Amino acid sequence: MSRKLIVAIDGYSSCGKSTVARELARRLGIRYIDSGAMYRAVTLYFLRNALPIPGPVELLSDKTDYAPILDKILITFRVNPNSGRSEILLNGEPVEDEIRTMDVSNQVSHVSAIPQVRHRMVDLQRESGEDGSLVMDGRDIGTTVFPHAHLKVFMTADPKIRAQRRHEELMAKGQNTEFDSVLRNVVERDHEDSHRQESPLRKASDAIVLDNSHMDREEQIAFVLERIKPLLEVGANV
Ligand code: DC
Repeated sequence: MSRKLIVAIDGYSSCGKSTVARELARRLGIRYIDSGAMYRAVTLYFLRNALPIPGPVELLSDKTDYAPILDKILITFRVNPNSGRSEILLNGEPVEDEIRTMDVSNQVSHVSAIPQVRHRMVDLQRESGEDGSLVMDGRDIGTTVFPHAHLKVFMTADPKIRAQRRHEELMAKGQNTEFDSVLRNVVERDHEDSHRQESPLRKASDAIVLDNSHMDREEQIAFVLERIKPLLEVGANV
């Protein structure tokens, strides 16, 4: 048997999904796609163009047609020639750093709850799966985007530990932020992502849980690789 390998990594905010997914893809020699970066890039476009963003309550009665806005947004990925890392482009412009600011983090759950936004992104994500093996991380990859993924991992960790990690990351990048506001953002996004109407964050019934509260990166990679090994043995062609 020879087939491609699709690995879906979902979970709560700031669990280190992208760190695990990126490294896993590197070791397997397959593509890594950060679906959260796609929603962040759309959010950045909304913010840059001062477009109104409906909150969860407004969204219930929102009749806006977002198609003309979405038609103006082109999202692509490339491998950065200097770092060798996959990075996202918004209308041709690399925006990896801009999409990680607190301004974007504070709005991204609202933008990603808009059904038309989700449909566009899910279509794009599925298209990328047509080009061969990949690891994709997000919130609904194992439930909606690739319900037939070969391996589904659901990552979680204590919210305070997650906020601590995100806080350290932001400070290291020179983004001076209060720990409490990072914690609030993590908790609010968990709530909003899990309670939206369209493909909410939830564990797929066939996903394996990875609670990394007290695990280092190597232990997490080993945990996932161990579950991928049997798939490679039955002939997944990566
Ligand atoms: O993984 P992240 O924190 O960069 O994702 C940013 C936001 O995007 C997250 O709060 C919810 C949304 N998201 C989503 O709704 N579905 C996905 N597949 C990935 C992210």
